[in-house]
Amino acid sequence: MGHAEPKLHSPVAAKRLSLDEYWMPFTPNREFKADPRMVVRAEGMYYWNDRGDKIIDASSGLFCCAAGHGRKEIAEAVGRQLAELDFSAPFLRGHPKQFELATRVAELTPGDLNRIFFCNSGSESVESAMKAALAYHQARGQGGRNVFISRERAYHGVNFGGVSLSGLVNNRRTFGPALPGIAHMRHTHLKENLFTPGEGAHGAELAEDLLRFVNLYGAENIAACFVEPIAGSTGCLVPPKGYLARLREICDLHGILLVFDEVITGYGRTGQAFAAQSFGVTPDMITMAKGITNGAQPMGAVAISERIHDTIMAAAPEGAIEFFHGYTYSGHPAACAAGLATLDIYRNEGLFERGRALSPYFLDAVFSLEDLPVVTDIRGYGMFAAIDLAVDGAPGKRGHNFQKKLFDNGLHLKTTGDCAIIAPPLIAEKSHIDKITETLRRTLTTM
Ligand SMILES: Cc1ncc(COP(=O)(O)O)c(C=O)c1O
Repeated sequence: MGHAEPKLHSPVAAKRLSLDEYWMPFTPNREFKADPRMVVRAEGMYYWNDRGDKIIDASSGLFCCAAGHGRKEIAEAVGRQLAELDFSAPFLRGHPKQFELATRVAELTPGDLNRIFFCNSGSESVESAMKAALAYHQARGQGGRNVFISRERAYHGVNFGGVSLSGLVNNRRTFGPALPGIAHMRHTHLKENLFTPGEGAHGAELAEDLLRFVNLYGAENIAACFVEPIAGSTGCLVPPKGYLARLREICDLHGILLVFDEVITGYGRTGQAFAAQSFGVTPDMITMAKGITNGAQPMGAVAISERIHDTIMAAAPEGAIEFFHGYTYSGHPAACAAGLATLDIYRNEGLFERGRALSPYFLDAVFSLEDLPVVTDIRGYGMFAAIDLAVDGAPGKRGHNFQKKLFDNGLHLKTTGDCAIIAPPLIAEKSHIDKITETLRRTLTTM
């Protein structure tokens, strides 16, 4: 973004940093520590590693930094906030920025999803939404509704509720049976839709799986259906045309809450504030995190319909705590300040509209890689896309090597298994998309 490039020399070596103590998440620790890839600075569309190499960010960090890196407005807002009010107890005490941010989030959410519960991560937003669903049904005298429906290949975070909802085997297999009473619909990755940009024509009927669970368990026992409108971490599975609308219909018919997990798709990734708006389907709750602070502070939230909120409020005796749930850092002052500064940037720079306008160019660029023999599918919607690579030996091995080679070739992205997920910051210029595509092609040809 027109800034002087820093000259870095390997601070890792210079400081004799010990890599032993820190246990890294979702990382092959032994491999990393033998051959570390360190990031030491970020600005705009780029990271810099500890050798001073410039690395283009093709997945917004981890789908967080829609407004690009190093946004001074956010850093300054957080600094000011910490100097003025570093922390206040979130229970029984409020501070103005919590209320202000909740109002600003509610301005962006669809329908009457105007009641905002703050937490600190996507995982916590999922747990909070599960609890709100249970509390709602109990408040309206339907406490028997405690089965949750989700989907194969879903990712809903790493706490036990989210793991139970998740449909990714590696996230489940080590941790026992998880919560009881969770059933998974089939995923929507169909061979009939391979290499289709946008919503596939095939597969709306997969929504009928929800009806099968209604018939199997009884609607009166089902609390909520959780889906990512676009399944993100598994590799950008765009919903088939009509699929989400059909889920909505079935939920309405049977008193089941529909929850969209928009931890990745929220905040402009699909060209609107939320994928709910892009697909024209309004859920009863939206879980969110990541983009709410542009990744600059840990924060998550659940947007909850007024109906759900009011039902829970009305069921509690006057003066009682209505919802026995919350975190020490719910609505932390620094996170709220970051959130407000981030939403200002999104609005002032029209970043959701910008992403929407750039999407056709971006999707054309990614789909131009379909001629490469190693590529077995490409999917995409908005500023979000994924490339499947042919499995080579153990599943995930090629994908893992691919992300390492890409980093060494100057590009950062997230892979899951053998799928590369591309989600550049919404500040990207066409030249950045060209650079990303060129690096992907050059690296793919060596795979
Ligand atoms: C859809 C979805 N839900 C929940 C989560 C968990 O978020 P966190 O890692 O902030 O706990 C993620 C993370 O990528 C996600 O993509």
